[in-house]
Amino acid sequence: MRELINLITVNETYFFREAPQMALFKDELLPLLREKNRQEKTIRIWSAACSNGAEPYSIAILIRESGLFTDGGWRVELYGTDINAEAIQTARLGLYTANAFRGVDGAIQNKYFSLKEPGVWELDPGIRQMVHFSLLNLYNPAQIKLMRNMDVILCRNVLIYFDTEGKKQVSEHLYGSLRPSGYLVIGQSESLFKVTTLYKMAPMGNVLVYQRPAEEAD
Ligand SMILES: C[S@@+](CC[C@H](N)C(=O)[O-])C[C@H]1O[C@@H](n2cnc3c(N)ncnc32)[C@H](O)[C@@H]1O
Repeated sequence: MRELINLITVNETYFFREAPQMALFKDELLPLLREKNRQEKTIRIWSAACSNGAEPYSIAILIRESGLFTDGGWRVELYGTDINAEAIQTARLGLYTANAFRGVDGAIQNKYFSLKEPGVWELDPGIRQMVHFSLLNLYNPAQIKLMRNMDVILCRNVLIYFDTEGKKQVSEHLYGSLRPSGYLVIGQSESLFKVTTLYKMAPMGNVLVYQRPAEEAD
C-alpha cells in the first residue's frame, strides 16, 4: 500500500510557491502571531500535505529572516506531514534539485543552501532542524487529532484531488486541530465554498484565508 501511495500521489511542490501567500506570512501572519502569542511565546504551524518539505522549510526560512522570534525564549514549532513516505524521507534529507528553486530569490538560495554535488543543493542544517516531519493521512481522523492547537495550518494543493465529501471531512477535521482564531491556508486556486460553513473567511491584503472563529471552543 505504501508503495502504491508513493506511486500515485502528485508531489509537485517548490520553495516559496504561491508568492502572495508567502508574502502574507511575512507581512501579516508572522507579525500577528508575534503579537497574539507574546504571553505564551510559542507558535505552532503545520504543513499538512508537505510533500518533500519545500513548503514548511519556506515558512522556516521566512521565520528566520523575520527575526521576530529570536529574542527571549520563543518556541517555534513547525510540523510537516504527508501520506507519501518517500516525500517525507526526502524532506528529512533536505536535498533539492533545480526544480525546487523556481520561486526562490537567488540571494535566499545562496544564504540557506549549499551545493553538495552538481545539481544537488543541501538545506542549512539549522533550518532543517526547525521542522518535525511525520507520515500522516488526512483521511485518518485519529491521526489528525494528534495535531493540536495550531496557530496556522497550510493544506495547499491537495484538497483539489479529493471529492466534495472528502474535502468536507478533511477541512472539518483540520478545524479541530486549530486554536480558536487560528488560520487555515489552502491553495490559491482552491475554495471551501459549498464544502463547509465551519470557518469564517478572513481576507488579508489580496489573499483569502480561512479562520476558526475566536469564540468557538473544542
Ligand atoms: C501537489 S502536492 C502539494 C505540496 C504542497 N502543499 C504545495 O502546495 O506545494 C500534494 C501532496 O499531498 C499529499 N497527499 C495526497 N493525499 C494525501 C492524504 N490523504 N493525506 C496526506 N497527504 C496527502 C501528496 O502525497 C503530495 O505530497
